[in-house]
This record gives sequence, C-alpha cells and structure tokens, in this order.
Amino acid sequence: MNRELLKVSGLTKHYPLPRQGLMEKKQVVRAVDGISFRIREGEIFGLVGESGCGKSTTGQMLVQLVKQTEGELYFQGEPVSGLSESRMKALRRDIQIVFQDPYSSLNPKKTIGWTLEEPLIIHRIGDKLQRRKIVSETLEQVGLDASYMDRYPHELSGGQKQRVGIAAALVLEPKFIVIDEAVSALDVSVQSQILNLLKELQEKRGLTYLFISHDLNVVEYISDRIGVMYLGKIVEIFEAGVADKGPLHPYTRALFSAVPDVHKRKEHAVLQGDVPNPIEPPGGCAFHPRCPAVMDICRSEVPQLRKVGSGHEVSCHIYAEGE
Ligand SMILES: Nc1ncnc2c1ncn2[C@@H]1O[C@H](COP(=O)(O)OP(=O)(O)O)[C@@H](O)[C@H]1O
Ligand SMILES: [Mg+2]
Repeated sequence: MNRELLKVSGLTKHYPLPRQGLMEKKQVVRAVDGISFRIREGEIFGLVGESGCGKSTTGQMLVQLVKQTEGELYFQGEPVSGLSESRMKALRRDIQIVFQDPYSSLNPKKTIGWTLEEPLIIHRIGDKLQRRKIVSETLEQVGLDASYMDRYPHELSGGQKQRVGIAAALVLEPKFIVIDEAVSALDVSVQSQILNLLKELQEKRGLTYLFISHDLNVVEYISDRIGVMYLGKIVEIFEAGVADKGPLHPYTRALFSAVPDVHKRKEHAVLQGDVPNPIEPPGGCAFHPRCPAVMDICRSEVPQLRKVGSGHEVSCHIYAEGE
C-alpha cells in the first residue's frame, strides 16, 4: 500500500455572517464542519455531494486559498500550519488546483504561453529558453501543440481552455492536484476526453488528486475512493467500483439511485426536499429530515463516522449497532 500523502483532521471552515440586529446572536455558515480523511500517494480521492455541501471550500483549504477556522492539514506527514516560509513556498509548488471555469483563471489579455510561463518565473525556474521548453512540453502533455503558446484564451474551445487549465496546474510539477468540477461545464463528449486525459496524466506522472464533482457518475468513473459530503460533513467513505463494498449511507444510496447504471440497486429512494441551510443545520443527524430510514435517535444524536469494513466508513445510526 502506498504511503499517505495528505491527511485532513477535523478541518472546519465557518464563515461569519453580518449581524442582523444588535440583539441578534452572531451566526455562521458552517461551510465545512470538522472533516477527516487521508489520501495515499498515487490515489484519486473523489469528493461528491449536492451543491453547497462544502466541496469547494474543502478544496480551497487544501490548496491554502482559504484558511481553516479549526483543524489541521498534514502534507507528507508535516502539519501545514507549522511550516517555515521556505517549506510553505515549496508546498505552493507541490499542491495545485484546476477550477471549473478555466476562463476565469486565464488572463484574457495574455497569451497562453505567458500564462503558463508566469508560475515558472515566480518560482525562479530556468531561463527564458528553458521556460519556453517546459511550457511547450507541458502543452504537448495535455494534447495541445506548441503553437498554442501564441494564442489567446478567446480563441480556444471550452475543452481546449480546460486543457490549458490543466497545463497551468502541471507546469510546476506538483505532487497533488485539487480538481474542482473541472469537467462540469463541458459537453459530455468533451467531458470524457478531459477525464481520460486527467487519468492518463495521473498514471504517467504518479500524481495524486482530490477530484471534486457533484456528479456521482463522473466521480465513480475516475476515483479509487469516494468521500460523500452532506452539509459540511463527510457521511461516508468507500472504495469505488467494488460491488460488495457499495455505499451504505441512505444519502449515498439516494444519490446513486438518481444515477442510472452505476450500482444497480433495487430501492429507489429518490431524495426528497432541498438541502437544509448550513447556517442552522438540523439537529442530530443533519440528513434526518430527508432520510427514508429515519429513526428516533437520528433526531437527537449526531452520528460519528465509524469503520464498517476495510476501506469503508459510514456515519449513520443504522450501522452503529452494538455500541
Ligand atoms: N466566502 C464565503 N462566504 C460565505 N459563505 C460561503 C463562502 N464560500 C462558500 N460559502 C457557503 O459555504 C457553503 C459551502 O459552499 P461550497 O464549498 O462552495 O460548496 P460546494 O462546492 O459543495 O457547492 C455554502 O452554503 C456556501 O454558500
Ligand atoms: Mg463547488
């Protein structure tokens, strides 16, 4: 088994809301509410859940774009909050992110070559000639020839822009990449091309990914293990594509039942209602108002994530017998 590359322990992000009135108590958005997981070297860990459950906030904390309220992130065994300035700089090279909308991360006034060279300049890598070589080789690896260096973002299709977004994440030769809804805005045929490219790059370069998507089909296709988020918490972690280790949590099962062809399950527990507000989440298990298998205990006691088999953790009172 590969060694652990990244560990997240009790990671939390609460966004304070502006106070409504003088007498009102201060409220927070519980975007991410104490999550813990580990990602091994060379692994693709998928993060799935409905919109607003805290996936992007998690990804942004892992790449240090957002500072956590509580909890700790460990990279190669070291707590990130305790890193020296120089180790932090190295970490910023090692951990990269690919966003849903590459256009927003590409400067419309600059050529693709300029955009890809900039991180190399910031990190003082090579001279002009060497940098051009790195940029053209990186473009080649994402399926674009060197002529793209002289093009502008508006000249590219959605798929080509996302290839440039991937090249921008690769150019510093990172160890770990957060991929946040990177194929969600693309047509289905282009989606699969980009997914296959990501998979191929991961294998060739021994990369490790946190792959974020609201689309369970996409996550199931690319991931080795999957973490399911609901209202800022991880409710289940399981291995992808292992039929007898399929998901147990009623939320995960409901997500799967909305997806044809994946785990062919008999029950059709289609999700009822909307995701509750992360400002005042329901008490007990936050999923209980929408759960088809709700029990009394679910309304009062918060279930904990516990191991139910090898590589399988679930936080649900149904699976907490004997405790
Ligand atoms: N900068 C912010 N300020 C206040 N609330 C935020 C901020 N960013 C995200 N949120 C809230 O945090 C929750 C989780 O958001 P997000 O991580 O973007 O979810 P997802 O990526 O799963 O859709 C949502 O309720 C969102 O509105
Ligand atoms: Mg998001």
